[in-house]
Amino acid sequence: MAGDIRIEPMGETHIESFHRVLDTVARERKYLTLLEAPPLEDTRKFALSSITTGNVHLVALHGDELVGWCDIRRHFFPSHAHCGSLGMGLLPGYRGQGLGRRLIEAAIGVAREAGMIRIEFGVHADNARAIRLYERVGFVREGVSRDAFCVDGAYTDVINMALILR
Ligand SMILES: CC(C)(COP(=O)(O)OP(=O)(O)OC[C@H]1O[C@@H](n2cnc3c(N)ncnc32)[C@H](O)[C@@H]1OP(=O)(O)O)[C@@H](O)C(=O)NCCC(=O)NCCS
Repeated sequence: MAGDIRIEPMGETHIESFHRVLDTVARERKYLTLLEAPPLEDTRKFALSSITTGNVHLVALHGDELVGWCDIRRHFFPSHAHCGSLGMGLLPGYRGQGLGRRLIEAAIGVAREAGMIRIEFGVHADNARAIRLYERVGFVREGVSRDAFCVDGAYTDVINMALILR
């Protein structure tokens, strides 16, 4: 199945389906900081600004269906503008088949071409599949934010990971 999936830059026509996928992953309440997607109009503004300001925002498409995304948002202040924050997610039925690896490798390639030097994020310590993927493509653990994520009274450590591209 993974072979039928295309990876493309996100365009305006993808925004509503991106919003649905983001909402699905967020509502799992395990993987993302968000526990539900922001309202569609806020997501639209975020996505449009991401597209027009040259951030990395790739989507995975199975036919016409958007099944995943990977974004890398460049930091705002000039002294941090060589850094980007990565976020990604796939619909549950598309996980564990190598698609995440295709997406993140493509996104890193675009970030490299755009001159980004450092890509970073936090991943929940119990998200073994994501950590494995990130380490496979070269991210290293830089530290742990203890008990940084809390849902329904359960605390989880967040592992800070980064990749240096120079
Ligand atoms: C994290 C995510 C993007 C990874 O994409 P994916 O397509 O599922 O991952 P891949 O199949 O490309 O690779 C996963 C790697 O983890 C391994 N893996 C799979 N399940 C695993 C598990 N339960 N524990 C540890 N490793 C696991 C795979 O074997 C593979 O490693 P390999 O290349 O050495 O064989 C995807 O699972 C997802 O969307 N998860 C929910 C949202 C999320 O966690 N987002 C990231 C928040 S930081």
